[in-house]
This record gives sequence, structure tokens and C-alpha cells, in this order.
Amino acid sequence: MITFNNVTKHYDDGTVVVDGLNLVAPGGKITVLVGPSGCGKTTSLRMINRLVEPSSGTILLNGESTAQMDVVQLRRRIGYVIQNAGLFPHKNIIDNIATTAMLNGVTKSKARSRAAELLEVVGLAPQLAKRYPWQLSGGQQQRVGVARALAADPEFMLMDEPFSAVDPVVREQLQEEFLRIQKEVSKTIIMVTHDIDEAMKLGDRVAVLKPGGKLAQLATPAELLNAPQSEFVADFIGRDRGYRKLSFHSTGALPALHPDPLVEMGTDVAQARSIASQPWVLVTHKGKACGWFDTRQQVETITPETVNLGATFYPQGGTLRQLLDSALSSPCHRAVVIDEQLAPLGTLALENVLDACKSMSAEAL
Ligand SMILES: Nc1ncnc2c1ncn2[C@@H]1O[C@H](COP(=O)(O)OP(=O)(O)OP(=O)(O)O)[C@@H](O)[C@H]1O
Ligand SMILES: [Mg+2]
Repeated sequence: MITFNNVTKHYDDGTVVVDGLNLVAPGGKITVLVGPSGCGKTTSLRMINRLVEPSSGTILLNGESTAQMDVVQLRRRIGYVIQNAGLFPHKNIIDNIATTAMLNGVTKSKARSRAAELLEVVGLAPQLAKRYPWQLSGGQQQRVGVARALAADPEFMLMDEPFSAVDPVVREQLQEEFLRIQKEVSKTIIMVTHDIDEAMKLGDRVAVLKPGGKLAQLATPAELLNAPQSEFVADFIGRDRGYRKLSFHSTGALPALHPDPLVEMGTDVAQARSIASQPWVLVTHKGKACGWFDTRQQVETITPETVNLGATFYPQGGTLRQLLDSALSSPCHRAVVIDEQLAPLGTLALENVLDACKSMSAEAL
């Protein structure tokens, strides 16, 4: 558990950056800090590992004040992940990861073999071990940053916009992987992000900060969406919060699925036309859902170039938001429900999905 007790930080020029912050980040959970630029998020993180000293107030780790701790010992208990990973440029990847464990007195060979395991944990190929940071993509570097913070097996992790430097697709992969790892390791984590969606997805609890470093609200994502305590929080969480809310509702019992005919990639279009019940037909590749094909196209066979591959699919048991996204991203407005092997189980029309959203929102009221 990390506790802020009335913590304030001001600089000599009189700027108050953090103002009377009270906050508890429970053990084994992810607490996310969000708020506008300059509201003191990074400063708050850096006060925990004493890269910045508070002007007043106390910060406690499991009830023990950090002010009394030896700073080196303190930092060894805390993994720190920053934007752009902050890797050592002159060290290869494996040594970048191994370094923090070695600082804790682990032998070089043990630290390296643990680093190799962690490389796998964060989803990186073993061949990358000998490369240098500049030879990796931004997303790969960020994975290394996470692996490096985990290498010392710290109780606490501070993460300052750890996934911000990558494109949205990679970012989602990193988030998924991060949640999977956290399920296994259950660290006490405080993470800063600019991205509300990320905060809502990753945070067990989310702290919204206001300019001037004041806490506006600390609550679970669902509470923030359902009951923002002030206009500031409501605004910050965003106008599309009705839509975000869908993320917190699994779909429950679905209406009966429509058994759309399926055709395999490579099928003759004439054959596809003969079985299609509407202009669009669902294409699979080795039994896995691929995308929709418009049978009105003047082509002979179904090839990847002729299939609308942009649609998202709805994994059975997922959230209403995923279901709605699947229906909206389909060119014929039908959500495709898939099983764990990605095989299509059937489809649902957008109207049916909207009915499910309506009854969810009636329940929530
Ligand atoms: N050494 C310093 N002296 C004076 N002011 C500082 C100093 N360091 C930071 N600040 C100010 O403190 C405020 C908070 O900075 P901080 O980096 O904590 O914000 P942040 O919430 O992390 O912002 P961002 O979202 O842009 O990363 C800013 O206005 C910044 O200019
Ligand atoms: Mg910052």
C-alpha cells in the first residue's frame, strides 16, 4: 500500500504543484493518476521514490514513512517505468533488463537468466536479447522497460505514461499483456496516463487530479462514469461516457444468433452468391473469421484484397462495447460472434445490439 498524507510540493518561485494530496493506493492493485498536463502527476510519482522531496506531508509504504528510509534501499523496492522506456543506450537488451536485479546483489549469470525469462513474459523474441535499444521499435523498447522494472521483483511499481509512445494497436497489446502479467505478480502499482480509456481499462481505482495538484475524485472506473462528483470530473471523463460505460457490462444472454452462411477464402464468387442470403457474406480462413465479402463485386474468386478486413469481431462473453463495435465496424452492420478459436458462431444485427444497449442503460439508471 502506498499512502499520501496531506502531501504538498511547491517550488521556490511560489508555484504549488501538488496541494494537500491524500491518496491510498491499495496493495496488489493498480491505481491510475489522470489529469490535465501540468497538474502534478509526474511530480507525485517522483515524490514516492524521492527523486523529488515533498515540501510537507508524508508518503508511506505499507505504513512506513519514506522520509526515514535510506534512499537507495527505498528505490530498490520500487520499479520505475518512464515514457520512452529510458533504457541504457550503451547496454544490450538482456543487460538492460538484468541491471536492476544486479543492483540488488543478484549474480550476473542469475540476473541474465531471469532477464531471458522476463523477455518472454513481456512477449519479446529471444533473438532481441543481444540488440541495443536503438535497434528496437518504440513498442519493443517499452516492453523492455516493463521487463527491467520487473527484474528486481519490486513490491511497488511506478509507471509514468509507460505505453504512450506507441500506436493504438500496439498500445492495446501492451495493455493486455500488462494486465496478464499483473494478474500473476500482483504488484502495488501507481500509473500515470493521459488516456482516459487506458485509465478505465487498467485502473482498479482512478484518481483524477485538477490543475494545481488537487485530488478531484478517487474511485473505481465504473463509479467515475456513473457518479462523477463534480463538473470537472464529468468533463474530464468525457462526453462519450455513455459509450465508455458499455465496457463495464458483459452482454449476458444474447438474442438468438443468426446462422449466416460462411465461405472459405478462395471460394468461387458464383458459389458464394448461390448461398448468400444478403449481398454480404462472411469469409473464413481455415475456419477463422476473416471479414465480409460483397458478392456484388465483379470478381471470380474471394481473395484477401476483395474482402473487407477492417471489421472487429465479438469474442463470446465479451462486453457490450465490443459487441457494438463489432456491429458498427461491419460493412453490413452485423456483429460477428466468435469462439476462442476465432470461429464464427453466428451474427447479430445492429438493431439487436442496440436493444441490448438500451436495456443495459435502463438497468444502470
Ligand atoms: N523544478 C521545477 N521548478 C518549478 N516548477 C516545476 C519544476 N518541475 C516541475 N515544475 C512544474 O510543476 C508542474 C507539474 O509538473 P508535472 O511534471 O508533475 O506535471 P504532469 O501532471 O506530469 O504533466 P504532464 O501531463 O504534462 O506530464 C508543472 O507546471 C511544471 O512546470
Ligand atoms: Mg508527467
